[in-house]
Amino acid sequence: MIKEIIDKKRLGFCLSNEELSSIFMGYMNGEVADYQMSSLLMAICINGMSEEEVFHLTDIFIQSGDTLDFSHVPGVKVDKHSTGGIGDKTTLVIVPVVASLGVPVIKMSGRGLGYTGGTIDKLESISGFRTNLTNEEVGEAVSKVGAVITGQTANLVPLDQMIYALRDVTATVSSIPLIAVSIMSKKIAAGADKILLDVKYGKGALVATYEEAEQLAILMQKIGKQYHREVRYVISNMDHPLGNNIGNGLEVEEAVQTLRGEVNGHFYDLCVELASHMVSMAKDISYDEAVLLVEEVIKSGKAYEKFREIVINQGGDLTSIQISSNIYPVYSEQNGTIKDIDALEIGKLSLSLGAGRCEKSDPIDYGVGVVLCKNIGDDVQKGDLLMRLYIHNDDFEVNQSTFEIN
Ligand code: URA
Repeated sequence: MIKEIIDKKRLGFCLSNEELSSIFMGYMNGEVADYQMSSLLMAICINGMSEEEVFHLTDIFIQSGDTLDFSHVPGVKVDKHSTGGIGDKTTLVIVPVVASLGVPVIKMSGRGLGYTGGTIDKLESISGFRTNLTNEEVGEAVSKVGAVITGQTANLVPLDQMIYALRDVTATVSSIPLIAVSIMSKKIAAGADKILLDVKYGKGALVATYEEAEQLAILMQKIGKQYHREVRYVISNMDHPLGNNIGNGLEVEEAVQTLRGEVNGHFYDLCVELASHMVSMAKDISYDEAVLLVEEVIKSGKAYEKFREIVINQGGDLTSIQISSNIYPVYSEQNGTIKDIDALEIGKLSLSLGAGRCEKSDPIDYGVGVVLCKNIGDDVQKGDLLMRLYIHNDDFEVNQSTFEIN
């Protein structure tokens, strides 16, 4: 039976709800082997899935664990998801901005696999910050300070955790239907009323092109519609690192600077764009009205104050963020103008410094990373500082072609 289901997908046919259920639930119950599921995932990767299959599979994923209900928390709860990228610390800025405007935010985030940590790893670089709140504590936190950022509870879409681990080692992460099911099942199970998606494309992203990112975004929006959730999306480029700091503690530092209004440029603009969509959805106001509100809470310091409240409420001490004091400067070897900074190369470099993990169980070094000192378009002379590496050992190599200078 399992073999026939795999064969049907290999030949490009659609699987019925019963077939999807029997193989995916069978996998969860230990009746379907890793090699059989791997084979099915590869067939899905190659042949895709119909929308019907995607909707059924999302339902199977959601039903595999608990669904959270925060309807007792007053207000429209808006969640946000980014498909991730190098230096993406937008959550750390957006959550307090939106919460400081009276919109409750319950953000369940993950740890990172890959070049740098996930939001939870970043927050754990703040001494004492608790990321393992119970569902009761989440409700209390959001009622008290208006926002909470915590790790996903173990029983939220457990099937996704199993399938993602397998996809990660079988080259099946990049399948658009599988990404859509994985992300949207978690968002819907986590109980948000409205969802904003930041879908990235480019060198440091899950998908390479704008067209693929749009296809993924539209599919996720359609899944949201099945569950009566309003879903908006923003498509953003990930060829270059987002912001100047890459690495866990360093990214918290840049988020703090942004919340204090000390940083502008592409990262600030993206944070304003995403936060404004969330506020516009939650308050049912126009995007332009929301932009004015968002910029005002950053300027007035209210958003930074909200971040401090969130951190203190979760046991953290913002005066103690892990950042290595051992700095290795990287200088330009030529004169010219910076044409490109390769996000993937910066990601590989930060991984080699210890800022990310290859295996789920790998330790992460919160204090290491990269700070870019020049941006695209800047003129440089030979000997100018291009970036500072925050290191704990000498086991890394800098690829000079990371910066395209001519
Ligand atoms: N993020 C997820 O949560 N799932 C995917 O499949 C890819 C990125």
